[in-house]
Amino acid sequence: MASGPTPLLELTDVAVHFGGVKAVDGVSITLDEGLIYGIMGSNGSGKSTLLGAVTRLNPLTRGRLEFDGVDFTRVRPHQVAHLGVARTFQTVRLIDDRTVADNVRLGLDTVPRGRRRELESTVDEVMERVGITGVRRMRPSELSYGMQRRVEIARAIVGRPRLLLLDEPTAGMNTGERDEISELMRALQREGLTQLLVEHDVQMMVDVCDYLFGMNQGELIAEGDPDSVVADEAVRESYLGKRVNDDA
Ligand SMILES: Nc1ncnc2c1ncn2[C@@H]1O[C@H](COP(=O)(O)OP(=O)(O)O)[C@@H](O)[C@H]1O
Ligand SMILES: [Mg+2]
Repeated sequence: MASGPTPLLELTDVAVHFGGVKAVDGVSITLDEGLIYGIMGSNGSGKSTLLGAVTRLNPLTRGRLEFDGVDFTRVRPHQVAHLGVARTFQTVRLIDDRTVADNVRLGLDTVPRGRRRELESTVDEVMERVGITGVRRMRPSELSYGMQRRVEIARAIVGRPRLLLLDEPTAGMNTGERDEISELMRALQREGLTQLLVEHDVQMMVDVCDYLFGMNQGELIAEGDPDSVVADEAVRESYLGKRVNDDA
């Protein structure tokens, strides 16, 4: 194998078991800096748990995590943020007795103290980019679900992470809003941000991702360029087949 630059993220044989449930079971993946990656898989295949393993919210049953060549298998969640890893959650987690702007600013709590002042000036700019400037003084609950998702993304990127994990960021959005998120992801990519996307919309995955992983029952069943993964027999059977049934 050719030895390229150090990968940004490397997971080796990662497993997360909840009692008898093998939510993630022996996943090894490598993310190179600057690309957009996607994880496909039916409900319950372990996608969110894998993101939680990376942010150290889910305890590892086994495995090893490296960020930019540094082992972070044992670090705490807030230290993961200091490494430069940010995420959005599958379900909106905003604080409702604060304004939108305050919620975004909370993203700065995860960056080392010395950098906060410098980044404070970027709060407005980030809100503008994500399209929430007009609602900055509102409370999250006053917003549509799609707008709440944008606030979450703004909060995740305001600390200028090197790796952004997005767990179904466009759930509840219409096609136009979804295209805007795709466009935002591409713009962030042009600035060098590496992204790992979990998303049910196959078309969006193919459009926005450089590389896809397919998961089923906690295991990796395929990886490669998006077209080949979407066409993969095992992926179609586990994911696309199920989707058709789910939607029926
Ligand atoms: N905190 C938890 N405790 C017990 N089981 C869990 C927990 N989180 C997830 N699971 C189980 O792990 C499996 C994978 O879940 P999840 O990672 O949420 O899948 P996905 O995001 O792909 O839909 C499911 O069977 C789910 O019920
Ligand atoms: Mg999930």
